[in-house]
Amino acid sequence: MAPLLQQVLRRKPVEAYAAEGEAGGLRRTIGLAQLSMFGIGATVGTGIFFVLSEAVPVAGPAVIVSFVIAGVVAGLTAICYAELASAVPVSGSSYSYAYATLGELVAMGVAACLLLEYGVSAAAVAVGWSQYLNELLDNVVGVAIPEALSASPEAGGVVNLPAVVLVALCSLLLVRGTSESARANAAMVVVKVAVLLLFVVVALAGWESDNLSDFAPFGLDGVTTAAGIIFFSYIGLDAVSTAGEEVEDPRRTMPLAILIALVTVTSLYVAVSVVAVAAQPQERFDGQEAGLAAILEDVTGSTWPGTVLAAGAVVSIFSITLVVLYGQTRILFAMGRDGMVPPLFARVDRRTQTPVAGTVVVGVAVGLLAGLLPIDFLAEMTSVGTLVAFLVVSVGVMVLRRTAPDLERGFRVPLYPVLPLASVAGCLWIISSLRGITLVVFAVWVAAVLAFYFAYGIRHSRLAGTEVGR
Ligand code: ALA
Repeated sequence: MAPLLQQVLRRKPVEAYAAEGEAGGLRRTIGLAQLSMFGIGATVGTGIFFVLSEAVPVAGPAVIVSFVIAGVVAGLTAICYAELASAVPVSGSSYSYAYATLGELVAMGVAACLLLEYGVSAAAVAVGWSQYLNELLDNVVGVAIPEALSASPEAGGVVNLPAVVLVALCSLLLVRGTSESARANAAMVVVKVAVLLLFVVVALAGWESDNLSDFAPFGLDGVTTAAGIIFFSYIGLDAVSTAGEEVEDPRRTMPLAILIALVTVTSLYVAVSVVAVAAQPQERFDGQEAGLAAILEDVTGSTWPGTVLAAGAVVSIFSITLVVLYGQTRILFAMGRDGMVPPLFARVDRRTQTPVAGTVVVGVAVGLLAGLLPIDFLAEMTSVGTLVAFLVVSVGVMVLRRTAPDLERGFRVPLYPVLPLASVAGCLWIISSLRGITLVVFAVWVAAVLAFYFAYGIRHSRLAGTEVGR
């Protein structure tokens, strides 16, 4: 085989991961309830609080169906993640799975996707936070941050300052050594779920069947386009399967927790969407900021439910920004350890035991994105990156079954190969519904990351000089 081809196809041996995992010495302490909470906590964040104003204008009340479709696709891929996470249970998420199964070049492509799934999505959730913070300030102290300082240039402002401040605060916490305790996460999940249930109960009072009469004004096309936009709200279920090394009895716990989180999140989202489109005529959703709070204010004629909802959203989004930024720094940490990015990202500060320099770089980059770009663009880039990463994971399941059939797996995808194939088809279907410009920007981004690989990673790889993987 030509040397270049050998280099880009080299795979990191699964045993090397196992050795790294054991060296880390993580303890298996997470049980089913905590893991399910982790899945719900990592998923419910900004999306559900703002996505209706993007998706309803595209699909009409049939947005309810879009929520179910997006949930099914996210569920199929989450189950594929569970198998790989139980076979290659280390940090680095799908970047590591791809490196073990499909080779270095594909792993770098997946890393480009993960920078969107984590880095860009942190920026997107921060922008969503800004909208709800403004709503809260307006309700409580009667003063909102002026548009120039709370919106991106494209949305008529100069910079989205609250989003930048949130990213800076979260980066500071991460640098200081914040660790997500399972109890704190569970508390935040209770807040998130409680405010959404409050929305469902209060908005139910505004139910108008007439609002549902023109159910799917833009047909199936509208429904699938909206599913692509909504998919963002389901991102995070895969976080369950990244806890592979710390879960008790992973064979049983991981798939169950994924299913519990999936069913809870899907039910909650569908309930919110049904009540929202029944409470407000579809024309009103377009461009509505802090939409759920606005619906509650309309229904009750008073500001308190909207204020409670906005406060819940502010807490909820703060936590998800922190978790997503954390994920990005740890993926870059794994890449730095492999020599794919400069060692700065894998350098751990002796005092705080965190990758300080890497976190600062991530914080500055995400802060710039959050301050200057609009939320719909950031959310769409997040979705396309995540979908392609999910696609690779689904293919990775099938590849690893062939290349390492005897490898110990804590969990095996049921209905093999139908389920991973359905997952691939689902991802492709939603990808095809995304806007052309999103796909073009995505292709340019991946090309840029691969160019970086050929300029840097291929020579600095820890596997440099080795043969193609096992
Ligand atoms: N699923 C996450 C959210 O909706 C990204 O904020």
